[in-house]
Amino acid sequence: MDTNEFDFENRIMSTSYSAADSDTEISLRPKTLEDYIGQEKVKENLKVYIEAAKKRGDPLDHVLLYGPPGLGKTTLSNIIAAEMGVNIRVTSGPAIEKQGDLAAILTNLNEGDVLFIDEIHRLSRSVEEILYPAMEDYALDIIIGNGPSARSIRIDLPRFTLIGATTRAGQMTTPLRDRFGVILKLELYSPEELATIVRRNAGILEMEITDDGAIEIASRSRGTPRIANRLLKRVRDFAQIMGDGRIDERIANYALTKLEIDQLGLDNVDRRMLETIIKFYNGGPVGLETLAATVGEEAVTLEDMYEPYLMQIGFLSRTPRGRCVTHLAYDHLGLPRVQIPSQSEQMKLFGAEEN
Ligand code: ADE
Repeated sequence: MDTNEFDFENRIMSTSYSAADSDTEISLRPKTLEDYIGQEKVKENLKVYIEAAKKRGDPLDHVLLYGPPGLGKTTLSNIIAAEMGVNIRVTSGPAIEKQGDLAAILTNLNEGDVLFIDEIHRLSRSVEEILYPAMEDYALDIIIGNGPSARSIRIDLPRFTLIGATTRAGQMTTPLRDRFGVILKLELYSPEELATIVRRNAGILEMEITDDGAIEIASRSRGTPRIANRLLKRVRDFAQIMGDGRIDERIANYALTKLEIDQLGLDNVDRRMLETIIKFYNGGPVGLETLAATVGEEAVTLEDMYEPYLMQIGFLSRTPRGRCVTHLAYDHLGLPRVQIPSQSEQMKLFGAEEN
């Protein structure tokens, strides 16, 4: 099969936000920290910071949220603004093209407001430079004129909270990262947390669902609420057409099998990626760029969207020499194991790398 037959962007297991998600995703978003399920450590700390800032009458310190896509960074930012009782202005790194774009946004904020910048690692260097004095001193330095007569004037800004979100904290410049007082890492959700989210959201969408049905969907959603919500909607379609509308384990299993999503939530693309490493590279190590070229996808997409889950379930390991498939993946794919070093032997052979 031609590797480019895969439609990476539109796969049902994609963690990218798509237009089809927008209608329900927004209505399903929890509005308070109380309603937000999972990310317990993050919530616990945030509660303290929010309460303390409110008590002092200060805006919340700048917050950096990082972690794989689809885990609720935007949702959490909206909740932070709501809990602080302020407005939120939402934008993204690639949307802010020029210094003037950011200056216009900053000067329109009110005291205490939240400015949310998604994909903050994609800000250009020149825009970033405007952000430094804004974050540190709540000030905007503007150059007027050019050549020898150019001069800089400083404009005061309202005290605001910047919330930056990124899937790749490692790609941010150090000066930008250092200006965030609060840095929070979002983790993939456990199947139990996802099942709670699925039951909550089924309730909001007025669907009948059994506990087993919720667990079936949750355990195949690769730790990601965005995927769980998408699968919930697809399973509902099958429940309405093939059954009596109620989602139970049987109909969930039937629908997910039809969608070619296996027991662990892997789809064709994941399986293809693992099989490529096994068949073409003898289980690895294979460099990320080489792997990306072989499966016809960009390295960053593999890194952001595919690898976190495959690593979490122990199917893939990262070594300085490249990606390696583990015995668990061979077993899951029903392929005979070749002589590959164990994960700890690989670490010794290639030197451990932090992920
Ligand atoms: N919907 C999507 N993510 C959620 C979360 N973390 N808690 C509750 N509902 C959600």
